[in-house]
Amino acid sequence: MDNRSYQDHFFNKAKSLGFRSRSAFKLIELDNKFKFLKNGIKILDVGAFPGGWCQVIKKKVSNGKILGIDKKNIESIKGIKFITGDFLEEKSKSNIIKYFDSKIDLILSDMAANTTGIKSLDCIRTNQLCLDILDFSKETLNDKGVVISKVFMGEDFEEIKKTAKKNFKKINFFKPNSSKDESRETYIHCSGLGT
Ligand SMILES: C[S@@+](CC[C@H](N)C(=O)[O-])C[C@H]1O[C@@H](n2cnc3c(N)ncnc32)[C@H](O)[C@@H]1O
Repeated sequence: MDNRSYQDHFFNKAKSLGFRSRSAFKLIELDNKFKFLKNGIKILDVGAFPGGWCQVIKKKVSNGKILGIDKKNIESIKGIKFITGDFLEEKSKSNIIKYFDSKIDLILSDMAANTTGIKSLDCIRTNQLCLDILDFSKETLNDKGVVISKVFMGEDFEEIKKTAKKNFKKINFFKPNSSKDESRETYIHCSGLGT
């Protein structure tokens, strides 16, 4: 299948299954690989618009406490709380902490910086978001919790690896089949806070 047909395949599949984004399949693949979606857990989904990952969470997790945040407004999903805001702002972070009122079991980030057309710059900006997630998780994640974040292969990749290794006992990288071949995107899975 050429790249175009591949993209159309996931687009059509998302549409027929009622998912708001093709990204939903990435979370399904990530969960098939690492098995982190469990009943009753507290989940933060950062960069959640338009809500594809939250739809997957909703299908797979019952009795969870789930919060999605994005700069863009997300159409509601029953049982999921959404905040519109920039994750990088302190106010958003304190709203997240206030909402959970205890440690979070799973922090997901599919955040991507707006593209500028300059690949290396886009890469740095998205990877800075990942570093921010890793930093935030030090204070807010349950000791046995899991972080999954989008990462771009390229600038800052080594720094992310180094930071993740410093903060977590176990790290892995996984690129879902539903992620475009030519995209530098991959995902980091971190577990076991503290070294
Ligand atoms: C690839 S999309 C996420 C798709 C989503 N996982 C889904 O399944 O529908 C990336 C999102 O990251 C968001 N984003 C980027 N930087 C952000 C920031 N600083 N704070 C909050 N959201 C951000 C963008 O607004 C965009 O909606």
